[in-house]
Amino acid sequence: MPGEQGSDSKIIDGRALAKKIESEVHSKVQMLKDQHNITPGLSTIVVGDDPASKMYVKLKHKACDRVGIIAEDHFLSEDTTQEEVIELIQNLNKRDDVHGILVQLPLPEHINEQKVMMEIDPSKDADGFHPLNMGKLLIGNEELVPCTPRGIMTALEEYNVDIQGKDVVVVGHSNVVGKPMATMFLNRNATVSVSHVYTQNLNRYTINADILIVATGVKHLIKPDMVKEGVVIVDAGISKEEDKVYGDVDFDNVIKKASLITPVPGGVGPMTIATLMQHVLKVAQNKV
Ligand code: GUN
Repeated sequence: MPGEQGSDSKIIDGRALAKKIESEVHSKVQMLKDQHNITPGLSTIVVGDDPASKMYVKLKHKACDRVGIIAEDHFLSEDTTQEEVIELIQNLNKRDDVHGILVQLPLPEHINEQKVMMEIDPSKDADGFHPLNMGKLLIGNEELVPCTPRGIMTALEEYNVDIQGKDVVVVGHSNVVGKPMATMFLNRNATVSVSHVYTQNLNRYTINADILIVATGVKHLIKPDMVKEGVVIVDAGISKEEDKVYGDVDFDNVIKKASLITPVPGGVGPMTIATLMQHVLKVAQNKV
């Protein structure tokens, strides 16, 4: 992937990389069908009317169509009870044609996210959010891990970014990105700092980063004076203003100091979805 000259060569092209991964998944899905008569299946659950959640799930379904995974959606109304969601998950756990189960977050306030995640069969946990899979990640077993950090790691590997011994700074400590991301870097022997919304003087940390991962949803939080020359930056943030999408990094100015950087859109987003496809395939392959 890397190699071209000019400022384009600094940009991690998440779309191109996702396309390559999807094409590999597509071939393997075809092989699984031909050799074992297994078609991977993903069931998604959305509770309520959050337009962003619906849009993300639609993108995931489109990716399934591209790679040959059968996608089934369950759109449940806002007033669905926790018991009803759990009952649905238990039914999906039992079905042989459902390999991956994904509950789109956030859930409405009256539903306990942790209780719901606990109900997903850990072997079908395509999103890697089940506490068993999170625990495995912590001890270095990364079979099914959250898709965004896994996709980021794949991108860094593809662009030959050295990790061992590097100073990595993760901004944001969510269960979906920040915490699993920090753990993955620790598993690869980086020195990791995790900062977040309560961190005082954020730039004390970011300025030392060899690799900076930002996932806060705060538009253009990271400015050029907060990073050092040659930094590798991954922007997993997204915020919307009047139909325009922004990342957490002031891209146009920060790119001048970076050696590699992901754009928003077209960076982390497509990699998250391509990773989900890899996970559903992996679960289906485990059935052989
Ligand atoms: N909400 C925000 N990111 C994610 C994700 O990666 N998976 C799910 N299920 N919900 C999310």
